[in-house]
Amino acid sequence: MALIELTDIRKSYMMGEGDLEVLHGISMKVERGDFIAMMGPSGSGKSTTMNILGCLDTPTSGDYVLDGRDVSSLDDDELASVRNSMIGFVFQGFNLLQRTSAIANVEMPMLYSGTMSKERHARAKEALERMGLGDRMLHDPSQLSGGQQQRVAIARGIVNRAPILMADEPTGNLDSKTSDEIMELFRELNENEGMTIVLVTHEPEVAAYARRILHFRDGEITSDELNENRRGW
Ligand SMILES: Nc1ncnc2c1ncn2[C@@H]1O[C@H](COP(=O)(O)OP(=O)(O)O)[C@@H](O)[C@H]1O
Ligand SMILES: [Mg+2]
Repeated sequence: MALIELTDIRKSYMMGEGDLEVLHGISMKVERGDFIAMMGPSGSGKSTTMNILGCLDTPTSGDYVLDGRDVSSLDDDELASVRNSMIGFVFQGFNLLQRTSAIANVEMPMLYSGTMSKERHARAKEALERMGLGDRMLHDPSQLSGGQQQRVAIARGIVNRAPILMADEPTGNLDSKTSDEIMELFRELNENEGMTIVLVTHEPEVAAYARRILHFRDGEITSDELNENRRGW
């Protein structure tokens, strides 16, 4: 069974007197250990799909089976618990807490998962060291470059040891050299740790790291193809 299985997902928003449907029946499967890039123009439904995949939002209709469990109709608490154990996130613009050290930022997801303080500290330190930031743990975001901030965000995304890492435009604010460094980290997490990676990007050079590329248009998937010329392999 696939790790992620979406079947005929629709999402509507109430707008004025009517409903606006923005996802028109999305179906996709993601196998364990896969690396998927979702591409498409602005407004095509990538983030909406990602939010559903990430259990941050629920579909209006359709089925979502995650690791054998039907998650399409869970309540908020149940979703939060699935999210905690299954999914780490990296967002565009990093979403780090300001005036808060790198290590405290990375410890944050473990506050919700109930990890003890000593263990939190040790795991956050380890994650930052893996991201090459062992000497920047006490810096706060304003004292770090964009690439370093995104590496803190990745450390935060992997610290709960969830099997899936989701990233929405993770290189959106970065120059191309720094983007490549960030994508190289994703590639290593996929190859060495077997993490399943799902990312949204509008940059072909970023999508080129994925094993599979899905194109979105107007709330539908218009193509789903293996990437023959995968970067970094
Ligand atoms: N909370 C919302 N309420 C109403 N419409 C929304 C909401 N969120 C997104 N949309 C609409 O859904 C469509 C898809 O948006 P989104 O998934 O963010 O696109 P993308 O990430 O591909 O740029 C857009 O037309 C957007 O305006
Ligand atoms: Mg988006």
